[in-house]
Amino acid sequence: MASQLTAPVIRARKGDDRAGEPLVMVTAYDAPGARIAAEAGVDLILVGDSLAMVVLGYDDTLQVTVADMAHHTAAVARGLRGLTPGRAPLPMVIGDLPWMSYHVSVTDTVLNAAALVKAGAQAVKLEGGSKRVAMVRAIVDAEIPVMGHLGLTPQSVHAMGGFRVQGKEAGGAELLVAEAQALVEAGVFAIVLEGVPDQVARVVTESVAVPTIGIGAGRFCDGQVLVFHDLLGIEDRIAPKFVRRYAALKADAVEAMAAFASDVRSGAFPSDDESYHLGDEAARVLGLYGSEGASKTA
Ligand code: KIV
Repeated sequence: MASQLTAPVIRARKGDDRAGEPLVMVTAYDAPGARIAAEAGVDLILVGDSLAMVVLGYDDTLQVTVADMAHHTAAVARGLRGLTPGRAPLPMVIGDLPWMSYHVSVTDTVLNAAALVKAGAQAVKLEGGSKRVAMVRAIVDAEIPVMGHLGLTPQSVHAMGGFRVQGKEAGGAELLVAEAQALVEAGVFAIVLEGVPDQVARVVTESVAVPTIGIGAGRFCDGQVLVFHDLLGIEDRIAPKFVRRYAALKADAVEAMAAFASDVRSGAFPSDDESYHLGDEAARVLGLYGSEGASKTA
């Protein structure tokens, strides 16, 4: 496989010559999604636990397991195999640690992170700040790069009382900076900032030595991430204000499938050219001369 971007390279983007060119991350959950992202030239693919909501039909992200995440991480990694990157190197793959996979014991945490790496991830992501420092250190000690995730952390949906923008209250920025710095000291190579006011994201971004990647966090982050199904309009039910839809694939797919259904029902599909045919001799032996198309060869 062609070379992939790595955690040290992504971390170094904070201060290198390409500073000013934001990092581009998208989620993907399967091989075709990975190929689309790679051919589009994104820097990072996150196999997010948003899998639960956009692919598996759950109402929140709490239902997915390490086995689910490993299954989809492996599909993404397989999708990149054999690809010639449009803009070398290929994207880095990050596996999202699901809820309760890094909350109980250090041993479980490291083994769960390792399961995602064995499936094909080059790094893992986990949600939370100072509370997660011990787990971040343990994963980093096992030589697995870790991406942090602060602000609106969907795995805390019940604790937050819903999917709510975070850091709006007085002192919110200071708190977030402290949490981000705790993660950096523990060894994260980048931090996702989700659902925070843009001014707060700016303060955090300017306060830490690793890249911040925003989603619903405004334009002052070091990079941006969107969920695959939101960006491409495969999800068309809810659109938070930070989502920009670059395509309407759900509408296109419905239209295409309705055209197929209509062609089948009217007899317009399949055509003669879309069918296999017996050769002349086989048709003669089977006594099928005379039936429409029987004299055509396959
Ligand atoms: O799971 C996910 O898709 C994420 C992104 C929103 C960053 O965590």
